[in-house]
Amino acid sequence: MLDRTHRFRRAGATAAIAIAAVTLASCGDSTGPKNKQNALRPAGKYSHEILDLTRPFFWIAVVIGIGVIGGTIFVALRFREKEGEERAVRQVHGNTVLEISWTVIPAVILAVMAVPTVATIFNLAKKPTGADVVHVTVTARQWWWQFHYDDPGNGVETANELHIPVGAPVELTLQGPPECSPAPCYLNGVIHSFWVPELNGKKDVVPGRTHYLNLQAERPGTYLGQCAEYCGLAHADMRLRVIAHTPDDYRAWVQSQRTAKTTVAALEKGVDNVTWQCASCHSFESGKPGAVGPNLAHLADRTGFAGDKYLMNYDNLWRWVYDAPGRKPLGKLTQRMPAFKDQNMSEAEAQKIACFLLINTATNPNPPPECAGK
Ligand code: CUA
Repeated sequence: MLDRTHRFRRAGATAAIAIAAVTLASCGDSTGPKNKQNALRPAGKYSHEILDLTRPFFWIAVVIGIGVIGGTIFVALRFREKEGEERAVRQVHGNTVLEISWTVIPAVILAVMAVPTVATIFNLAKKPTGADVVHVTVTARQWWWQFHYDDPGNGVETANELHIPVGAPVELTLQGPPECSPAPCYLNGVIHSFWVPELNGKKDVVPGRTHYLNLQAERPGTYLGQCAEYCGLAHADMRLRVIAHTPDDYRAWVQSQRTAKTTVAALEKGVDNVTWQCASCHSFESGKPGAVGPNLAHLADRTGFAGDKYLMNYDNLWRWVYDAPGRKPLGKLTQRMPAFKDQNMSEAEAQKIACFLLINTATNPNPPPECAGK
């Protein structure tokens, strides 16, 4: 009987060690998942700074954790009551030295850790300077991200997809949707949080307030982000991607975005804008924000749409036009993409609109075969 208990204990201990080993191995920054959303794989100076702070603190916490847990287990085993050795428990009413020391020691540890932490917070918040700084205003909507490039003469406006040059600091001005009346009122305005783990930490986006966040990428590539503050039904579908280009590619991208590929007049001719009123919510002009929805002047240049939930392709796009609330929970927002299928839009009509957009809002159109003749 005793033997079996012993074996169970040994198996339990082995399992615990194995689980701990696997868990610790998965934390390694060089072996972690390359899911493009891994704060342990920093890809820019701000995220490096955060990880450089996290790493020593992690090991300090490990040492303290092992000390506390080890001490607890040791004391429990060493001083437990054994069979045949029953004894009266000695009553202790406090120990001043012990109590002062376990108050002072953690306070000192926290005070020491605060020094590099506060320094890092100030470093991360420092306003970037230099001629190459890119300024972008980020507006958090329910449920998508609006990016407006602020540099004079830039005229670039996009959604859910932020293009940046490698090596240059990018200063984001984070804000909620514009005020409506009677003030204070923000249409569909709730708190969101902007987070691209491989480029920097999180920053809340709060209606009525202006926050700043810096990004910098050290190599070209796509870095995925996600709204990190619960903001309603489609919170999980409020994603974004940052695409870092070489400086030359970035300049070419800006150039391509500066001129609209289509106009509302062309839209009137191509699809039934009078009935569906696309242009009353969306803008088809470069650099001009839409009244409610994303700017569509270069929609087809984007990798995804609808808060980066769907990849940009014919099938996803026409189904979205046809029945957006059926493709992503939009709840009872006062202003949102309607369910056009309930307003007598036919599937063929939705497909025609998707083709119009894929052909007329792409810098280099590559229409799918379904769009031939449309
Ligand atoms: Cu926006 Cu969660």
